[in-house]
Amino acid sequence: MNLVIFGPPGAGKGTQSGYIVKKYNLFQISTGELLRNEIKNQTKLGVEISSIINSGSLVSDEIVSNIIQKFISDKSYKDKLIFDGYPRNLAQARNLDNLLKKNDQKIDIVLKLSVSLETIKKRILERKTMEKRPDDNEEIAIKRYETYEKNIKPVIDFYKDTGLLKIVNGEATISEINVEISELIESIKGWL
Ligand code: AP5
Ligand code: MG
Repeated sequence: MNLVIFGPPGAGKGTQSGYIVKKYNLFQISTGELLRNEIKNQTKLGVEISSIINSGSLVSDEIVSNIIQKFISDKSYKDKLIFDGYPRNLAQARNLDNLLKKNDQKIDIVLKLSVSLETIKKRILERKTMEKRPDDNEEIAIKRYETYEKNIKPVIDFYKDTGLLKIVNGEATISEINVEISELIESIKGWL
């Protein structure tokens, strides 16, 4: 089973992916995490993208595609992938479909976590005190939210058309959301 989880900054993509990975023995691809690792390790790519990430914009489709491609073509992760934060625009949604097809895979479920900007600000300011992510301050969080809003509508329509889209109330508690997501996953025919 391959799963996409998307939503605005602070929606709980990473938190919920963490639970799903353990419960269903899957592998999480957080494009944001992978990009931050490049910055932390001061790779050539990391140096190139750090100002983009820390301004709340999207890095190029090509860069993120190269990153996810490695996991999609790796047989040990076949049909075990959670895409956390990919796709973020229509070109990425189409690209993901193509890459999966080429590797004899498909998406089985798409989860959209919905949360308000007020909640996002609160969660990101709380996380800032713990994780010290450079893009976690109110101004950049609002910019990340605007970037999300600007690009996501065609992605939502794309997945609505495939019938795979499930909308989850991201304002509920972590465990309530977890229960809802588990039920959705287990309702898929042949989910294991
Ligand atoms: P990314 O790292 O994906 O950041 P994001 O989308 O802004 O999302 P976050 O990681 O901030 O939030 P989350 O939804 O994972 O929430 P979390 O579970 O941590 O991307 C960073 C950047 O990388 C992008 O801005 C872009 O530049 C670049 N990038 C990434 N992917 C890209 C792509 N595909 N294309 C181009 N560029 C890309 O939760 C947040 C906090 O809230 C935590 O402290 C958590 O404990 C808490 N929390 C979670 N759920 C709840 C709940 N239900 N109730 C109360 N608290 C909760
Ligand atoms: Mg995250």
